[in-house]
Amino acid sequence: MTVEDEVTVEGHDRLGRSVQMRLIGPPDAAALHELYTSASTRSIQRRFFTASRQAAFDYAVREAQSATDAHRCFGAFWAGELIGVVDWERTSEVAAEVGLLVLDPQQHIGVGTLLLRRALTSAFRAGIRTVVAEVLPYNAEMIDVLEHLGLPWRRRRDADCLEIELTLGGQP
Ligand SMILES: CC(C)(COP(=O)(O)OP(=O)(O)OC[C@H]1O[C@@H](n2cnc3c(N)ncnc32)[C@H](O)[C@@H]1OP(=O)(O)O)[C@@H](O)C(=O)NCCC(=O)NCCS
Repeated sequence: MTVEDEVTVEGHDRLGRSVQMRLIGPPDAAALHELYTSASTRSIQRRFFTASRQAAFDYAVREAQSATDAHRCFGAFWAGELIGVVDWERTSEVAAEVGLLVLDPQQHIGVGTLLLRRALTSAFRAGIRTVVAEVLPYNAEMIDVLEHLGLPWRRRRDADCLEIELTLGGQP
């Protein structure tokens, strides 16, 4: 893992608030569980393609594992509280899948974009060159965030899911 990933990065949301982004690890397990407890069913369903909150709790256990070369998870903190989480998982030497969730009251103020940029920078440093997000076709918020990053992207549609592939040609 690169040393840069261990550094806490500060960003600013559209309200000008300072958002701290740092790696998630085992000590964050309880905060992740709390995040997925607080998230709306709508957000859980958009993130995990099921309204089952248990699926989110199970995934949180994986997200809280220590970072490896195959997986990284970053949290966004505002006033010390975890308000969003993003992770990438390597699917090949040069490709990864990404997923994220921002708590509902904190959506639409730029936190998702900050988190996604944080994850893509980390993935790029780890040798990843394409990142895929699996998105429900009606998830306009996520599609907007992905397409507004300014990176080359393409869409693939299967039965009930949209795959958006981003090409990381340089530092995102
Ligand atoms: C998808 C999700 C992560 C987005 O998070 P967010 O913090 O609301 O995202 P942002 O605020 O950064 O961006 C969203 C908004 O910024 C806009 N935006 C982002 N970058 C922009 C740019 N460069 N120019 C113009 N608009 C931009 C988007 O169009 C969108 O518009 P809005 O003002 O109507 O909200 C959030 O809605 C969420 O957690 N949803 C549930 C989980 C989920 O769907 N996950 C995706 C599956 S992996």
